[in-house]
Amino acid sequence: MKANYLRLSVTDHCNLSCFYCRPFEAMRHLKREEFLSFEEISHLVRLAVDWGIRKVRITGGEPLLRNNIVELIEMLSGIEGIRDLPITTNGVKLEEFAPLLKKAGVSRVNVSLDSLNRKGFTRITGQDNLGQVLRGIKVAKKAGLEPIKINVVVLKGINEGEILDFINFALENNLIIRFIEYMPTNGLEQNDWYFSNFRVKEIIERKWGSLEPIPFFAGSVARYCKIDDTKAVLGFISPISQPFCHQCNRLRLTATGKLKPCLASNLEIDIRKPLGEKAGKHEIKILFDLAMKEKLKGRPEPPYQRNKYMFQIGG
Ligand code: 5AD
Repeated sequence: MKANYLRLSVTDHCNLSCFYCRPFEAMRHLKREEFLSFEEISHLVRLAVDWGIRKVRITGGEPLLRNNIVELIEMLSGIEGIRDLPITTNGVKLEEFAPLLKKAGVSRVNVSLDSLNRKGFTRITGQDNLGQVLRGIKVAKKAGLEPIKINVVVLKGINEGEILDFINFALENNLIIRFIEYMPTNGLEQNDWYFSNFRVKEIIERKWGSLEPIPFFAGSVARYCKIDDTKAVLGFISPISQPFCHQCNRLRLTATGKLKPCLASNLEIDIRKPLGEKAGKHEIKILFDLAMKEKLKGRPEPPYQRNKYMFQIGG
């Protein structure tokens, strides 16, 4: 197995502070000059495509906060060999950006959204922006950035009561909802937010009847199901209860140019320095092969990810 999917974090800045992803005490972010430049990114992506990457997802932080992000996307969508160029966003700036993203070559969007009520949204994110996100999703649909997937991290005692509301929301708006199990990161493991996707499924089946599995999409870490008699497609991403490392086809690049073999790994391979020294195909291949070799060793044991919060990697 060789990864063909690169998750590219373009900033660690975010306009939300979800307590499980970007807790307040961790809010020091990178300065702009620490980010890879657009030239560095597109040069690197070109070499990554040579190595075998076919899908590049733009992540953050919140990627729409990176200055001139549309320009970067135009540069990336011009690279031959990339078959899919999606973006993951919290949706706050989507209303403004969706048509521009579509025009620049983004294929589709995933929106991270953990609550459908204003109080719950504000409690989780620290910001009263639910209305903006909902409008952003509508505009993204209109712009044709489909299928739109909504990522919901289910947290015990926080939003577990909204599972059926999310199903209704998906049915009403023709969206794919994906329920994600909370993964403890960077010292945040001393809590009891974890809520298993087995329980999420149980709650849905009690109301909607048994869910019918849909065959795996190659490389997908989500398991998809259909609710009988409706068009609704649901996804379950269960890193804890049903690990999917054998299916995982992704590598990650941080905003400062560190290649990571796995979300749960502390290993970071610096790409920026060799890139600056005019590394070519051959040098980059050695570094990507090294990341791949590490990746194939499997996920490290918990505690995961001691050196970074999720907002610093892009989920
Ligand atoms: N566990 C699981 N998912 C997380 N995300 C952020 N932090 C965590 C975590 N600790 C999710 C975001 C987003 C995706 C990229 O990662 O909600 O949808």
